This record gives sequence, structure tokens and C-alpha cells, in this order.
Amino acid sequence: MRGLAMAGIAALSLLILAVGCVPPPRVAGQPEPAAVAERMSGIDPLFLPPSPDTIPGDVRGESIRLGYLMVVNTQEYGKSYIGNALNCTNCHLDAGLNPNTASFVGISALYPEYRARIGRKVSLTDRINECFERSLNGKALPPDSTKLAAIVAYIDWLSKGVPAGSTVPWRGIPRLMQARPPDPAKGKNVFATKCSFCHGTDGQGTMAAPPVWGPRSYTVGAGMARVGVAASFIKANMPRGWGWTVTDEEAFDVAAYVNAQPRPDFPGKVHDWPQGGKPADVPY
Ligand code: HEC
Ligand code: HEC
Repeated sequence: MRGLAMAGIAALSLLILAVGCVPPPRVAGQPEPAAVAERMSGIDPLFLPPSPDTIPGDVRGESIRLGYLMVVNTQEYGKSYIGNALNCTNCHLDAGLNPNTASFVGISALYPEYRARIGRKVSLTDRINECFERSLNGKALPPDSTKLAAIVAYIDWLSKGVPAGSTVPWRGIPRLMQARPPDPAKGKNVFATKCSFCHGTDGQGTMAAPPVWGPRSYTVGAGMARVGVAASFIKANMPRGWGWTVTDEEAFDVAAYVNAQPRPDFPGKVHDWPQGGKPADVPY
């Protein structure tokens, strides 16, 4: 997985840049569950995204680079459009190159696409703006925005080796199945022992990690505010550098605890799932 190794290196330097401290070492030789191994083996031939280090130096490269900067440093480059302390890369890990968390690789060709939450076909720019409004508690970038076009250019560039009509097997966050109803009281304990070290005892974030609840976190209308989505993200990626180490129950319990804490509202939620089909873990 050459692409991934490079992504890892890029991510590491980014993380150091972003949080100003050295992240914990990754656990070598950590076994991955069979399901994940299968997912990864299926993606091997196609999942070869270019490293951001190889963004071309021409005019198009300038736009791609701006898109990359919007993703990894949304706080600075997107600051007039956001209302919390997050960057895209905090959830779309490794600048969108990590296949375990809603990777940007290969998704360009999948749009426009019908979305049940919105109740109509959306473009890639619509989908990006959904994350600006919901995950970043911000506002949609205007259709003629250079910055919006830059994010699209970056995602297109990451998607260039992936043929149209491909199914993109690594798409989204690998979903966990819930074995029993999540228990937020147990989750509080998981948070204290496995998460607060980086995210803070009050969940408001530290120098090492972004907030997971409170006024500077994602809104109730974000995908991450769904317990099933957060549990799946946590299982595969948290603690950062130790993905796949918490049990499925711990992932669900801590997700239920985190998502039971206060966070910004998303008033537009009243218009969601206009044709029905709202998933059971949507908190409204
Ligand atoms: C070693 C430090 C560390 C630990 C421990 C840790 N995280 Fe994280 N977490 C991070 C970092 C760093 C990010 C942002 C990743 C990036 O930008 O690459 C993050 C991102 C997140 C996010 C998405 C962004 C956000 O802030 O909403 C969630 C949710 C999350 N972590 C939950 C958890 C949970 C739950 C645990 C405990 C099981 C946990 N984390 C343990 C460092 C950590
Ligand atoms: C709080 C976490 C979070 C943040 C921050 C965030 N996103 Fe997302 N994003 C998600 C989740 C969760 C999904 C849906 C994943 C799934 O369905 O498995 C998603 C989906 C997407 C998709 C669609 C992916 C696909 O497969 O079609 C795009 C594009 C996207 N986000 C762009 C962005 C951009 C650009 C930013 C920064 C401006 C951003 N996101 C910030 C959590 C986040």
C-alpha cells in the first residue's frame, strides 16, 4: 500500500503541524478484523491516491493545493465559513486519503447522487456544503466560490485513477453492527479511560485533539451526531493511532455518551428526510 504509506507520512507531518506536538507512535503489527482485511484487499488495485506532495506546480495545481489547504487547515483557509474548531481532516483523516473514514479518493464520479437526507439529487459541491453547514457549524460556500471549486479540484485530483462507474469499495466509514443497545453510562467510563487524555475530560478538546462536544464541536445535524456513525468512526480510528483496539461495545457506548452531550443545534434539520427513511440513530 504505497499510497497509504505516503499518506501516513503526510498525515504525520500534518498532525505535527496542526497540533504542534508529536502524535503517539502507531502500534505495529496490530491485527485487523477479517472484515477490514477483506475490505482492504478488495480496494488494493484501485486505492492508489497520489500524495499531496505531488500536486503539480501549474495553475490547476494552485487550485488543487488551495483545496488541500481548505481540507487540512479549514480553521485558517475557511474561517469565514465555519463556526466551530474543526478541520475537514479531523474526520476525513489524513487529508481525505485514509480509506477507513469517508475518504475523498474516487468519490468524484459518484456525483450527482440522490440523497435521502436532502430528498433530492445533490452535486459534489452540495455535499461539501452539507459538511460545512452541519459538521463545521458554518454556512454554505457560494456556488461561484474559488475555495469551493478548489476543494472539488482536490477531490477530483485524488479521484483521477478511479474509473467512472467504479463502486469505490472503500467509500464511507466501515459500519459496525450494534449487538445490544448502547449504554452511555459505560461510555462515560470508556471516555475517561481512553479518550479524555487527548480530547479533554470535558470533551472540549486539547492541544492534542479537537473537541467532541460543546459549542466548538459538530452540530446535531452532522453525520457524526448519529451514534452508529460515530461508533463506526471511533472503532476504526480512535484512539488516534490505535484504530481497531476498542471493542464494538466500547465504541457504541462511548459514541452514545459523547453524542448525549450538548452541542450546537442545526435548525435546518426540520427539512431533513422529506421523503422519509430517516435512520433510527438520528438524534431528532
Ligand atoms: C492519542 C490522542 C487521542 C485519543 C486518545 C483519542 N483521540 Fe479522537 N482524535 C484525536 C485526533 C488528533 C483527532 C483528529 C484527527 C486528525 O486531525 O488527524 C481525533 C478525532 C476524533 C473525532 C472526530 C473529530 C471531532 O473532534 O469530533 C472523534 C469523534 C473522536 N476523535 C473521538 C474519540 C473517542 C471517542 C476516543 C476514545 C475512544 C478518542 N477520540 C481518543 C486524538 C485522539
Ligand atoms: C465532524 C466530522 C466531519 C467533518 C469535520 C467533516 N465531515 Fe465530511 N463527512 C462526515 C461524515 C460522517 C460523512 C458521511 C460518511 C458516511 O456516510 O459513511 C461525511 C461525508 C462527506 C462527503 C461525502 C463522501 C462520499 O463518500 O460521498 C464529502 C465530500 C465531505 N464529507 C466533505 C467534507 C469537507 C470538504 C469537509 C470540510 C469542509 C468535511 N467534510 C468536514 C464527517 C465530517
